[in-house]
Amino acid sequence: MAEQKSHNLPAHIGVIMDGNGRWAKARLMPRSFGHQQGFSRMISLLEHAYDRGVKYITVYALSTENLRRPKEELEGLFDLIRKRFLDSMRRVLARGVRLKIIGDLSYLPPDVQELLRQAEKDTEKYEGKGLNVALAYGARAEIVRAAKEAVAAGEELTEESISAHLYTCGQPEPDLIIRTGKEKRLSNFLLYQAAYAELYFSDKMFPDFSDKDLDEALEEFASRTRRFGKTDEQL
Ligand code: IPE
Ligand code: IPE
Ligand code: MG
Repeated sequence: MAEQKSHNLPAHIGVIMDGNGRWAKARLMPRSFGHQQGFSRMISLLEHAYDRGVKYITVYALSTENLRRPKEELEGLFDLIRKRFLDSMRRVLARGVRLKIIGDLSYLPPDVQELLRQAEKDTEKYEGKGLNVALAYGARAEIVRAAKEAVAAGEELTEESISAHLYTCGQPEPDLIIRTGKEKRLSNFLLYQAAYAELYFSDKMFPDFSDKDLDEALEEFASRTRRFGKTDEQL
């Protein structure tokens, strides 16, 4: 598919992939089935987005708060990573995309940590396109960690020095944040980076959020006026 003109395409999209559990419940299926479907949808959606010309994508897969979910649900998610992450991600990353896992990986089982770190290493050579998978991620924890790192390095605390220690350093800030699953909140996702992001909410549960739905979000993004505090006349 033709790449959209870069001036009205977001350079970086964040996706809060919410609604897997409700999607499954509506089908009288276990929540784990919703996560499996959500995983498959995420892979295809990522392929579509990079093919449209988006350069950076951050997907919210597990929050620090989600770590308090029942053990069976978390184990199901870790098993999904063990069984499907490498093979499925290869399809996406083959587009020259550098993988970063963002969040506190120490909360994940050691074999899962190892698998993810290796997957990151395999894409270290790529530049210019990135995929951040947020796992055991919380924006407040990320900001505190960045501030601590900056202080430990003897740096003055400024907006720039904090930015430079966030997981997303070196990447453009998210221009567009999409949340599926009907809720209208950020749930501790990219709070620092999203200062001027356009927000887009879809009522669809994530497994139902199609490539066409993404196209609609991109179209709406292209039609919005971003003022960054200025007046229309100043733009
Ligand atoms: C989002 O879907 C995926 C994760 C948090 C892992 P949910 O699991 O929150 O689905 P709902 O919100 O219960 O439908
Ligand atoms: C946000 O969804 C986190 C992810 C999609 C990974 P939640 O389902 O955890 O959000 P809340 O609890 O409804 O705010
Ligand atoms: Mg949810």
